[in-house]
Amino acid sequence: MSWPTWLPLRNDLQQLTPYGAPQLASDASMNTNENPYPPSIELQKAITEAVGKVAGTLNRYPDRDALKLRAGLSLYINEGNSTEFGFENIWAANGSNEIIQSLFLAFGSGLAIGFTPSYSMHSIIAKVTGTKFINGQRNTDFTFNLDIATREIFQHSPTLTFVTTPNNPTGDVISFDDIKALAEVVKIQGGLLIVDEAYSEFSSEKSAVTLIDKNPHVVVIRTMSKAFAFAGARVGYLIADSAVVDAMLLVRLPYHLSAITQAAALVALDYRVQLLSNVEALVAARKELEKSLMKLGLTTVPSEANFILFSGFTISAPQLWAQLLEKGVLIRDVGLSSYLRVTVGNDAENKTFIKALTQIL
Ligand SMILES: Cc1ncc(COP(=O)(O)O)c(C=O)c1O
Repeated sequence: MSWPTWLPLRNDLQQLTPYGAPQLASDASMNTNENPYPPSIELQKAITEAVGKVAGTLNRYPDRDALKLRAGLSLYINEGNSTEFGFENIWAANGSNEIIQSLFLAFGSGLAIGFTPSYSMHSIIAKVTGTKFINGQRNTDFTFNLDIATREIFQHSPTLTFVTTPNNPTGDVISFDDIKALAEVVKIQGGLLIVDEAYSEFSSEKSAVTLIDKNPHVVVIRTMSKAFAFAGARVGYLIADSAVVDAMLLVRLPYHLSAITQAAALVALDYRVQLLSNVEALVAARKELEKSLMKLGLTTVPSEANFILFSGFTISAPQLWAQLLEKGVLIRDVGLSSYLRVTVGNDAENKTFIKALTQIL
């Protein structure tokens, strides 16, 4: 893009294009790893009521530190991991993307490293906030390689080491043992180990939150966008030592999380059993989709998330993507040659996807 010469845009932003998957109308919307299940009528009513109560106070700023929400999130994490976090170990923001941004703003003075392919916003946010990001290596089958990662961490001495598990866009998990070993490496090297667990609830692997107590340099990122089916509300959070959370207060914008968002998220937390009950159905549907893809002669990367990266088709990824779109199916071209990523949809969407794919192949 060529920018007008009068626009004082930073040099390092001039070559960037805005990030974002196409938001196109489709019969099967399977491109952004959203949860296909809308909130139940009961939950919609509860959110409406909670937001209604807040509506009368919108002349006032919200709780700047989102204390109730952070306490609620700490209870949710403690429930699933036998941990003892309090609100002081949680920071919440408008999606985990804002959490990532705050981490760079607070700790991005050195280098950052991630092991790619992985969640591209880690490197994009690094760029936008002015931190150099190193693309570390994975194995050719996309699995995480602890030896390579260790070597690269010692080579580059990053301030921030990012790992994503289950990884996006590949779906594979890094074992808890590897994360533990990586935490040791980062402890020796210095800096923070950021474990992005956006898809954690879809996986049976133990969470890195259990490491934080003995490893204050480990930070875990979570979101309500995926398993909680709450992407539209924009709530992400981190779990960390209280010193990390104190640093978040330095870089957050005042009143960043609206009263409406906080009220809605508290209701979603109250309804967590209902919301998370769909996780099992999505995991079962993912397994079915994997089988269907394999029956079509395609190969899939083993996934523990709510999406599948697949390949083995003979036309190019952009061609297959476009042909699927013509049939009303929107999936994601993640820029990996000969691979496409599909998010697990509801029954109708999954059927539409497989039917369209069968016709094309
Ligand atoms: C690995 C990972 N982290 C973070 C996010 C950001 O999610 P949100 O900002 O909706 O919380 C995503 C979204 O797809 C993701 O895949």
